[in-house]
Amino acid sequence: MLEGQVALVTGGGRGIGKAIALRLAREGADIAIIDMNREGAEATGRDVSGLGRRIAVHQADISDPAAVQATVRAIVTELGRLDVLVNNAGIEKRSPFLEISADDWKRQIDVNLSGTFYCTQAAAAEMSKRGYGRVVNISSVAGVIGPIDLAAYGASKAGVIGLTRAAALDLADFGITVNAISPGPVETELMLGAWTAEALRERPQHGAIARFGTVDEIAQVVAFLASPDSAFITGINVSVDGGAVAAGAYMVEKYRRRKAAAGS
Ligand SMILES: NC(=O)c1ccc[n+]([C@@H]2O[C@H](COP(=O)([O-])OP(=O)(O)OC[C@H]3O[C@@H](n4cnc5c(N)ncnc54)[C@H](O)[C@@H]3O)[C@@H](O)[C@H]2O)c1
Repeated sequence: MLEGQVALVTGGGRGIGKAIALRLAREGADIAIIDMNREGAEATGRDVSGLGRRIAVHQADISDPAAVQATVRAIVTELGRLDVLVNNAGIEKRSPFLEISADDWKRQIDVNLSGTFYCTQAAAAEMSKRGYGRVVNISSVAGVIGPIDLAAYGASKAGVIGLTRAAALDLADFGITVNAISPGPVETELMLGAWTAEALRERPQHGAIARFGTVDEIAQVVAFLASPDSAFITGINVSVDGGAVAAGAYMVEKYRRRKAAAGS
């Protein structure tokens, strides 16, 4: 689907971003990675090379607009073009609402929302020169429904969905589509670091499909939205969440009933 194209994946050093980078490489794209974690990004780079694709690895913080601009320009110089941007890098810090520090609030907005904007603006400037581009933003179900103890994260991810719509309208005339994907719970280091053992046990039971998603289940939706085949789709948010958003509070009730039935 992506033969001859170049795809930039932020946060490609591990987790969902790594799966996305490898999936897009299997579809034929050369890959660029921006990640703060150089070791992880280089490890993904070796896997991409093993698939026979070119790779550009850059260590940078997406919340630094000057660094993002310089890095995107360097990537285009190295790989010759830019067709796809996947805004995947993100951070999550769980705290009760009354205990969220101003620094934690600001950092999550800076990385998850402002970082997505800086990368999109820098990439779109390159894509617009050739009149073609695909931007895929990784939001979260926490940006669609009200999360608990995740106000900064939820607000930043809701912001990403709003930014997706706005950018879709502003960039359509340049041949660039912009869409979002909102994963439900996917077992990665981010989630294992942020969730309690109890939440890890119970949370996946609240979707219609009662399990964690896999990184590959997110990556394959990215691959479609990153491809020329998705040409008439822009400004949408696709929940890839095992039916968690569709179920809402009803699945919590079903989970309680299942638990009660199992105990009786
Ligand atoms: N895991 C889940 O259940 C889940 C659910 C919904 C949404 N998401 C979203 O998916 C994305 C990937 O999540 P993951 O679980 O793979 O996370 P992860 O923590 O395993 O990986 C995130 C990667 O992004 C990089 N990164 C973080 N901040 C950065 C910055 N400022 N600049 C550059 N790189 C940075 C990290 O070094 C890391 O390699 C995130 O946006 C996250 O919010 C994850």
